[in-house]
Amino acid sequence: MEKIAIIGGTGVYDPSILGDVKEVGVSTPYGMMNAVTGNYQGFDVVFMNRHGKGHSVPPHMINYRANIWGLKELGVTKIMATAAVGSLNLDMAPGHFVFPDQYLEFTKARQCTFFDGGDMGVVHTDMTEPYCPHLRKGLTQAASAIAHQAHDGGVYVCTEGPRFETPAEIKMYRHMGGDLVGMTSFPEVALAREVGMCYATIAMVTNYAAGVSPTHLTHEEVLEVMAENSATIKSLLLAAIPLIAGNGDCQCRGTAGPVK
Ligand code: HPA
Repeated sequence: MEKIAIIGGTGVYDPSILGDVKEVGVSTPYGMMNAVTGNYQGFDVVFMNRHGKGHSVPPHMINYRANIWGLKELGVTKIMATAAVGSLNLDMAPGHFVFPDQYLEFTKARQCTFFDGGDMGVVHTDMTEPYCPHLRKGLTQAASAIAHQAHDGGVYVCTEGPRFETPAEIKMYRHMGGDLVGMTSFPEVALAREVGMCYATIAMVTNYAAGVSPTHLTHEEVLEVMAENSATIKSLLLAAIPLIAGNGDCQCRGTAGPVK
């Protein structure tokens, strides 16, 4: 039976959508990973809260390697990860879902690979399709099933944070082709690729980015929009689970992974 993981980002902390919930801890070479396992309509689902208990871990301090390695050890093959994002693209408005197909990363101090040489070897992982096309297709179908506005494709710009961006940075990211800005998709997406797992981001636009919006940005505003949309995010996740099951038309598993 395949296992699907949901990584809950900002505003998505509640595993109660699942039945038969059990807490699990996995000891990995990078530290502990904690999650809950459960099921939904006969599917095994693992739910992991990216920011830890009480949203206590900021984006630049998340142990991305332990999280992805732990999910792999639990037998997860597909990950749907939620993320609150700012928008640089006026068509991608607050309250819309976006399922990115590409990323640009501007992080500075993160452990972003399993392949540090030594026993792990030197590996250069293909990033042509960082976000799984099969999962994105299922998510797009799920969004239309629940009749919520969604965009299939978009460029996610990942910043180091935890501060928000300056308007000058946002202007630069727009020139570079960015549509969305957030702080967590990288290295999560790249680590999933390194171990051959299908990965998709469910980005919820919470605000127009600095300088695109005429007002100053606060974390409270981000939390408010996530809270207003939490029922919709749950509906999307549940509608997507049966739609992403099975083998899709993707090459995600082709990547050599360190964890068997
Ligand atoms: N910038 C970075 N991260 C974010 C934003 C933003 O505007 N909104 C939600 N997460």
